[in-house]
Amino acid sequence: MNPKVAIIGAGNIGSEVYKRVQELNWEVVFVVKQDGIYKNFTEKIDAQENIDKHIRDVDLVFLAIPTFDDGLTAYKYLKMFLENNIPIITCEKGALGNYFSELKDYLPIIGYSSSVGGGTRILRYAKERVTKKTKKISLVLNGTLNYIFYQLSQGKKLDEVISEVQRLGYSEPGMKSAVDIINKEASGDVPLKVSILFNILGLSPDIIKAKNLAVNKIFEEDLKLLVGQAKELRYFISISKEKMLSEKVVGGFAFESNGWHCLAGFRNTDSEFIKFLKGATNGIEIEESGFDGTYCLTGPGAGAGPTVSSMIKDAQILWNTKK
Ligand SMILES: NC(=O)c1ccc[n+]([C@@H]2O[C@H](COP(=O)([O-])OP(=O)(O)OC[C@H]3O[C@@H](n4cnc5c(N)ncnc54)[C@H](OP(=O)(O)O)[C@@H]3O)[C@@H](O)[C@H]2O)c1
Repeated sequence: MNPKVAIIGAGNIGSEVYKRVQELNWEVVFVVKQDGIYKNFTEKIDAQENIDKHIRDVDLVFLAIPTFDDGLTAYKYLKMFLENNIPIITCEKGALGNYFSELKDYLPIIGYSSSVGGGTRILRYAKERVTKKTKKISLVLNGTLNYIFYQLSQGKKLDEVISEVQRLGYSEPGMKSAVDIINKEASGDVPLKVSILFNILGLSPDIIKAKNLAVNKIFEEDLKLLVGQAKELRYFISISKEKMLSEKVVGGFAFESNGWHCLAGFRNTDSEFIKFLKGATNGIEIEESGFDGTYCLTGPGAGAGPTVSSMIKDAQILWNTKK
């Protein structure tokens, strides 16, 4: 038996989900856009506020809306389905990044893999690999920033790279200047992903909320400096048992919780692993005591194709559990 599904959000991700579930012969019961509830993407069947009349017909839900607020809109959608015991697969980050306490009891019926690391499935990997022996976790979690700085390190001009990022759909809609695009990714996206990762891994009994992190913005003069040093710099995150030496960090944020020191921002990297991540790639490297090598995973960090593949994988796992 195939599940009956609903899709909330009909943009890059929602339309790819629609295509992929049809290929699986899963019935799409309804699609929600900002202005109402639709059947088959085009035929409007109801106003958005009447959504609770339709949810009884659904087995699984895909949530693919932008984070306009702190995640509250997405959280309200999640809550409505979860309280009705309907599993939901989300690639939106605000709800899990800022409303984790309210959602944690429902984690077994939330598909969250694509909220961190696009199609790389970093959270599942880290959940298995991070143990009491772990001493450091290094991460690249923003494919757009990695793409921009990798291309700059290869000698491309900033204007050229920013046009590419917009053409490829890697930047959020509405962002025009390079500094806006970089700030949106560095100050908006990464804190949400780090909070989700921290909370999903249970690194601390204290729940981390992205909106409580003090994030340093990038200004035009910082950007000039970063572009000039693109060969040596990347935006990456370290979560370490040892306090990191006071190195120069541009943008980003730092916090400490339960003996873990987290540092994120543009920094010089002497890590071969971080340097190895080319293009719109995400990655995780885990170091543990008593082992000279490291555990590593890399994969696609942006783009509808890999993100939706990960959402479908979560949906299949949740549906097999529910059946
Ligand atoms: N694109 C990627 O590569 C990627 C990768 C990983 C995660 N994500 C995440 O995926 C989510 C969606 O991204 P996207 O690129 O698909 O965005 P998008 O192309 O801008 O599409 C957003 C869709 O959400 C709908 N929407 C907005 N607010 C809504 C609301 N309150 N209720 C119902 N529908 C609403 C919009 O409706 P209208 O059509 O009526 O405007 C639109 O159809 C974001 O949270 C993003 O961070 C994206």
